[in-house]
Amino acid sequence: MTEAGSQGFRGRLAVVTGGGSGIGAQVATLLAARGAEIVIADVNQDSARAIAKRIGATARAVDVRDRDQVADLFGSLARAPAVLVTCAGGASRRAALAVDEALFHDTFDLNAGGFWRCTQEAARRSIAAGTALSVVHLASSLHRGPAPELSHFSAAKAASVALVRCFAQELAGEKIRVNAVIPGPVETAATTPIWDARPGLREALAAKLPLARIGQPIDVAPAVVWLASDEAAWVTGAVLNVDGGLDVAP
Ligand SMILES: NC(=O)c1ccc[n+]([C@@H]2O[C@H](COP(=O)([O-])OP(=O)(O)OC[C@H]3O[C@@H](n4cnc5c(N)ncnc54)[C@H](O)[C@@H]3O)[C@@H](O)[C@H]2O)c1
Repeated sequence: MTEAGSQGFRGRLAVVTGGGSGIGAQVATLLAARGAEIVIADVNQDSARAIAKRIGATARAVDVRDRDQVADLFGSLARAPAVLVTCAGGASRRAALAVDEALFHDTFDLNAGGFWRCTQEAARRSIAAGTALSVVHLASSLHRGPAPELSHFSAAKAASVALVRCFAQELAGEKIRVNAVIPGPVETAATTPIWDARPGLREALAAKLPLARIGQPIDVAPAVVWLASDEAAWVTGAVLNVDGGLDVAP
């Protein structure tokens, strides 16, 4: 098998949003190890720079909620990206009746809007260049709901999955594949403080999973890399659970 036919990414430009931490940092690390040229686009410039330095990537301070910043990112790339991984996401916890307009809109803007904006801008670049693009979006097992104190996040992730499927259908004829990975509970900077603050929660979550443990970023990143690679050339519109079996939990 040729390198292009395997999971090789040599000569390919990959943009990873939210690549400064957690799953995104692990995805960027694996893609770099497989030869991709990486741009880490993260609102947290310090962490983006730290990861970029470690793996030989470029860090860009970008807030994916902001159209101008996203357009500037993709407009200023030296060439069209071959891979876009949208990991930037998250939400603060709030009881359903306490979610206000600002939190509701901000959560949608980040978790659904971030995918929407970045994919539009990346796709315009790749269509103009006539090159192929593979987009992989990080949604969440919570997109199915119910999710205590995370109704806004659950709904935003559900919207993001709908967008993935719509974009996959509309862009298939443009050499663009669009897929989603659905992580279950994964130990990252987003979850560690919550689980540390509630003794027993981590163990309770692990006990719900058929594979009986919380995930680590390295449990999720290889699936993302596979979807981004030519090995997944016949895969688009997929919504892939990488969740310790949560979706089939008894
Ligand atoms: N950790 C989990 O248990 C879990 C489970 C399901 C889904 N997910 C999803 O996976 C993705 C990655 O999660 P993680 O746990 O690695 O999170 P993380 O908090 O470790 O990393 C998220 C990164 O996104 C960046 N970011 C946040 N807002 C941004 C913005 N507006 N613009 C650009 N960058 C921004 C952060 O600075 C951070 O570097 C998220 O979309 C999250 O919702 C995580």
